[in-house]
Amino acid sequence: MAMSLPTVRIDEDRLWQSLMTMAEIGATPGGGVCRIALTDVDREARDLFSTWCRDAGLDLRIDRMGNIIGRRTGGDPDAPAVVTGSHLDTQPLGGRFDGVYGVLAGLEVMRALNDAGIETQAPLEVIDWTDEEGVRFAAGVVASGVYAGRFDLEYGLNLPDRAGETTFARELARIGYDGEAPCGGYPVDAFFEAHIEQGPILEQEGVPIGAVMGAQGQRCYAVTVTGEEGHAGTLPMALRRDAMVGASRMIDGLYRLAFDVTPPPVITTGYVSVRPNSRNTVPGQVVFSIDIRHPDNAVLADVCARAEALCRAAAAELGVDVAIEESSRRDSIAFDADCVDVVRTAADGLGLACRDIYSGAGHDACNLARTVPTGMIFVPCKGGISHNEREDALPADLAAGCQVLLEAMVARAGLA
Ligand code: GLV
Ligand code: MN
Ligand code: MN
Repeated sequence: MAMSLPTVRIDEDRLWQSLMTMAEIGATPGGGVCRIALTDVDREARDLFSTWCRDAGLDLRIDRMGNIIGRRTGGDPDAPAVVTGSHLDTQPLGGRFDGVYGVLAGLEVMRALNDAGIETQAPLEVIDWTDEEGVRFAAGVVASGVYAGRFDLEYGLNLPDRAGETTFARELARIGYDGEAPCGGYPVDAFFEAHIEQGPILEQEGVPIGAVMGAQGQRCYAVTVTGEEGHAGTLPMALRRDAMVGASRMIDGLYRLAFDVTPPPVITTGYVSVRPNSRNTVPGQVVFSIDIRHPDNAVLADVCARAEALCRAAAAELGVDVAIEESSRRDSIAFDADCVDVVRTAADGLGLACRDIYSGAGHDACNLARTVPTGMIFVPCKGGISHNEREDALPADLAAGCQVLLEAMVARAGLA
């Protein structure tokens, strides 16, 4: 248990340096990172992570969804593995910590155990999950979803990109990460994911560790508003079927809807595409995304029904057509009580203040939790800012979360 391992300390500087080195791959002028899944910069990050795994003596394998798995064998190599990981991909204007922290914290756990010459009874694994963010391909967290049995492999591999130009499988092959290992389907004892909170609570309360109880539900839609193109100078206003005006009315209605429900959901339109996107043509078609989240599944369903209804009403009023397609859905989820407790106990044993917390964001852990006992460890981030180039976190907080991760994994895996 936590107190039996006083000499295995993770290396704060090594963790920080690894994060900063990784942040150079896809670095943006604004101090953030743009490392969209299955692009060339994602490949570069994967190559570096793979090298670091090999250097740490891990057995490396790539599975059919391109997940990179580094395995540290145990005293009983056939025992169910204790697994950690997160994602190396980012938002287009992402930060240096969302995802990558959980991957490199897992690697640091392996490195620290190597340094201390500790063998665990069960094998340990660290995973870089492919495409957590879902920037290019309509849904995120698909690769961990296939691993956890939530989606079929074929569904994942055939996912088209938003531009309709390529597929997940083709891009995996292009960057050389179309692995052959089966995606999931082997015994796993527990999954732990370390992550920055991406919200303000831990920092505001001065608490370094969040023991994550679960995550809110989420539904995403692709909405296509179709009107008719026309000349911006000659088509009288009264005769227009302007898809942009239709979409704007809907998006404004969705924003207002969020304030009309208690406790409130969060509703976001973060993606819009306009056809033909030309100054002097009345827009004929607009496609936009809706992301709706709420901790209560019944409230979430009700808000989604109201969202659909208001889009249809706006379309009817403005004489445009609307098609609403659900692109992903995940119910709110509670993490495994024992895994949450292992995190609390580890923090306690290290003398670190810890509070229970819910995740507003989606994570690969939410998929894993469907079939594997799962827990998450949150650490504070500056101002609660995330999905933003200014995302920031303190080396000491990141190290504390990593130390808790080590204790939790060893508590589950046992010593050889
Ligand atoms: C993950 O980044 C999410 O959208 O919750
Ligand atoms: Mn993340
Ligand atoms: Mn993210």
